[in-house]
Amino acid sequence: MSYFLIVLAALLAVFALKLALLSVLFREDIRAAQKRDPAAKSFLEIVLLYPGLHALIYYRVAHALYKARLFFPARLISQLARFATGIEIHPGAVIGRRFFIDHGMGVVIGETTVIGDDVLLYQGTTLGGTGIVTGKRHPTIGNSVVIGAGAKVLGNIMIGDNSYIGANAVVVKDVPPNSTVVGIPGKITKQDGRKMDTDLDHARMLDPIMQAIEEIQDKIEKLEENSRKV
Ligand SMILES: CC(C)(COP(=O)(O)OP(=O)(O)OC[C@H]1O[C@@H](n2cnc3c(N)ncnc32)[C@H](O)[C@@H]1OP(=O)(O)O)[C@@H](O)C(=O)NCCC(=O)NCCS
Repeated sequence: MSYFLIVLAALLAVFALKLALLSVLFREDIRAAQKRDPAAKSFLEIVLLYPGLHALIYYRVAHALYKARLFFPARLISQLARFATGIEIHPGAVIGRRFFIDHGMGVVIGETTVIGDDVLLYQGTTLGGTGIVTGKRHPTIGNSVVIGAGAKVLGNIMIGDNSYIGANAVVVKDVPPNSTVVGIPGKITKQDGRKMDTDLDHARMLDPIMQAIEEIQDKIEKLEENSRKV
């Protein structure tokens, strides 16, 4: 019995040590999660239960291996992370400080993606390529950008600092700083705090030629009616 208690105490000590080490090494990232998620109740909850944080920890290790050109182990860790968290971050991606993925499931971040500081992603976000091209083919995300649930940001494009990408938007063109983008394809609805005029929807604009033809038709009908009366 006492042997069992010693083993249990040793395991608990190792666990506590691991927890303390993670808390020190990833303090900034844990604080970012605490700040960004109003549902987060405690430090311990984030460290133990947040897949976004776990994926980031795996990524930081995998990225270090990738930079040391240990591509296979790097990829192996990223696939283990995907299995454990549902989040796939290619070890070649470059991710800044205080990065947070909320909920996480279904997030994919491609190899040549570059992400600035203080970026928040929600579940289902894809930072991907548009086809089979080589070289820089994934987006560059500025600082303090928020990307909503299910949004797809595709190709070698730039999302400017402090921008919001709406849930389920598909963005395939550069976005200037301080913008809000929604819809498919993504349209800017707000920039520098001002609402943009999105009424100019070409699909719904009146066709001037059709208008002229309809006017002529009306006139012919009136003339025919008048001639019948005479
Ligand atoms: C885009 C977003 C950032 C809101 O920005 P906002 O500047 O506050 O925008 P508003 O709420 O004032 O909406 C502006 C217009 O965009 C529309 N809109 C807002 N979000 C949209 C979206 N994701 N897709 C399509 N249209 C959207 C609104 O209906 C509104 O249209 P209107 O002007 O015709 O009435 C926000 O709606 C969003 O999508 N955030 C992502 C949050 C998320 O993913 N949460 C997941 C939690 S689990």
